Amino acid sequence: MIPQQSLYGRLGGYDAIAAVVNDLLPRLRADPLLGRFWQHRPEDSLKRSKQLLIDFLCSSAGGPLYYTGRDMKSSHKGMSISESDWSAFLGHFHAALDALRVPQPGREELVAFVQSTKTDMVEA
Ligand code: HEM
Repeated sequence: MIPQQSLYGRLGGYDAIAAVVNDLLPRLRADPLLGRFWQHRPEDSLKRSKQLLIDFLCSSAGGPLYYTGRDMKSSHKGMSISESDWSAFLGHFHAALDALRVPQPGREELVAFVQSTKTDMVEA
């Protein structure tokens, strides 16, 4: 029997996922609605959060990493992320996946995973 490759492997591993996140973050920060979430934060905090997002996605996709960050509910609690914020986030996520030409069906699975975290984040 051929072992089923993990989503991590099918997406192209660490470098492919890191490339998506590297493309995504400037889009989020430049967005007129979402930019406020990353305003007035020191550069090293931004780098730390970015690294944790890469690790979280890699680890959740079955990659050989141990995610050392906080869970999604605790780390976004109190930010008042709204439905509109969430839609804007997803739009940028799709744009980053397009820019990096992330192939199907892995792409769809990754989007479905991100969507599954919504209830832990949207609170307003
Ligand atoms: C509208 C949507 C979102 C907004 C506005 C948002 C905003 C933020 C902000 C401002 C931080 C930094 C918090 C800090 O430094 O204390 C953060 C951290 C983080 N976010 Fe998000 N986020 C969103 C969606 C997501 C999604 C969909 C994921 C993953 C599927 C995610 C994963 C993470 C991770 C892993 C961290 C680091 C957690 C930690 O510090 O331990 N975020 N987010």
